[in-house]
Amino acid sequence: MAETTFTPRVFSGIKPSGGLTLGNYLGAIKRWVEMQGEGMETIYCVVDLHAITVWQDPHDLRAGTREVMAGLIAAGIDPEKSILFNQSQVPAHAELGWIFNCVARVGWMNRMTQFKDKAGKNAEKASLGLYAYPALMAADILAYHATHVPVGEDQKQHVELTRDIATKFNHDYKVDFFPITEPVIEGPATRVMNLRDGSKKMSKSGESDMERINMLDDAATIAKKFKKARTDPDPLPETLDGLAGRPEARNLVDIYAGLADITPEAVIAEYAGAGWGRFKPALADLAVAKLAPISEEMKRLMADAGELDRLMARGADQAEAIARPILERTYDIVGLVRSR
Ligand code: TYM
Repeated sequence: MAETTFTPRVFSGIKPSGGLTLGNYLGAIKRWVEMQGEGMETIYCVVDLHAITVWQDPHDLRAGTREVMAGLIAAGIDPEKSILFNQSQVPAHAELGWIFNCVARVGWMNRMTQFKDKAGKNAEKASLGLYAYPALMAADILAYHATHVPVGEDQKQHVELTRDIATKFNHDYKVDFFPITEPVIEGPATRVMNLRDGSKKMSKSGESDMERINMLDDAATIAKKFKKARTDPDPLPETLDGLAGRPEARNLVDIYAGLADITPEAVIAEYAGAGWGRFKPALADLAVAKLAPISEEMKRLMADAGELDRLMARGADQAEAIARPILERTYDIVGLVRSR
């Protein structure tokens, strides 16, 4: 079969639960913003249907969706350059998600580490949606024939599953219809770790607020969190190799590099031999300098829910115009009769 060439197109998504963290920003959003200038169409989605795989208070979900929309725009996603919307307003995601539930295999889902982490020992009580989540994520991506998906390291396995689903669909139906999507995991901070435990990733849902930096944290809170961040007693080494086996130290260096847009090597070159008493305040100042303008703008945008809703509606119309024909073609390929 001749290989179809797909037009390069970027898609990525973020859950609207629990606000935005520095992990979301450095691992994903910052790269999303840059990709707007790389000559590809960019589509970014607030994935509210993914959020409800665990309980969400309806009021908080609505507020969280608008908050994340505001955060994305404040961070530099331009609704004039990118298609920006919330998932539930484009039904093609859920519809294609069902088709992919019938393509993905139970054995594949059983290998998903995020499900194991989130469901924990209580897997019997987890929602069926949490288990099927990666098939919906594949639908998010493939409903747009997206070729590039910028994400943090923790989403790599899900993008690989998306490739497996596309491959199996194409094979089973003898078509070359869905692209084999590339994950884009780039930059010095693709896995930002928890500030209190360098073996766990920074997440919105961790139990203590001290373990993460939230995009809406004020300067004093950011300074306090970095000051109390766990480290070891040694100063910063002369070379990056000297950070081996020092996960907390490595994490702070990577965060600095991500915020300053330099390599971890360059951070070490500047701070070789420095103690935490010097490095942590410098890191806090840098974080405040980068995040304060974003959080100010975010608060301003959040005050006008009507405008955010209007932008989401417009983005959803633009998204629908791409996804609907792809979904209809999928139905035809599968053999579903559509007579109206
Ligand atoms: P979510 O909402 O958990 O996170 C959004 C993005 O932020 C990245 N990220 C991190 N990167 C580095 N370090 C961290 N500590 C960190 N925490 C979060 C995530 O990798 C992600 O890129 N399943 C996805 C949302 C999704 C999606 C999609 C993504 C749904 N459909 C389609 C891409 C394409 C999720 O839960 O991301």
